[in-house]
Amino acid sequence: PRPILLTRHGESRDNVRGRIGGDTVLSDRGELYSKKLANFVEKRLRSERAASIWTSTLQRTIITASPIVGFPKIQWRALDEINAGVCDGMTYEEIKKNMPEEYEARKKDKLRYRYPRGESYLDVIQRLEPVIIELERQRAPVVVISHQAVLRALYSYFADRPLKEIPHIEVPLHTIIEIQMGVTGVQEKRYKLMD
Ligand code: G3H
Repeated sequence: PRPILLTRHGESRDNVRGRIGGDTVLSDRGELYSKKLANFVEKRLRSERAASIWTSTLQRTIITASPIVGFPKIQWRALDEINAGVCDGMTYEEIKKNMPEEYEARKKDKLRYRYPRGESYLDVIQRLEPVIIELERQRAPVVVISHQAVLRALYSYFADRPLKEIPHIEVPLHTIIEIQMGVTGVQEKRYKLMD
């Protein structure tokens, strides 16, 4: 069985400021994670010549992948973070204060709530379909470096978690979730490389 390694990008400058969306670079801690991740991947997949690294088209995932050498890298727009539309770049506090109805609507039904001019979790799940088809088809290991909302959806697919849980699943920073699909089902390991 070949593993799929799922990880968020290293901590970004917007993560530090509590801003959602955006396209910033990494914080110093995020940079450190990118080096630890490269080390881990190079050891874990040393003998896997056909392995590949998949990122989104956003800087924070591409930069996180950059210290990894020796494997082809593919950028997928379908792996980009949930589009927060008019709320892109805001903090949750700002949304609560300036757009209280939006804040409440999302709290009530986070799965179906669609940001004005943006996406819902259901939208994200739908656009991930080609990625999932391609992941299923791969014979070699894949490292997916993406974003929290997207990884919640991908993880739920492989771990067979119910739709309604997806928006609430914990996908911590700086942690690799390794999924192995075998005949007896799916096995999962987590590697926390740093805080
Ligand atoms: O920036 C967006 C977050 O990664 C998704 O978090 O859906 O829990 O607000 P949330």
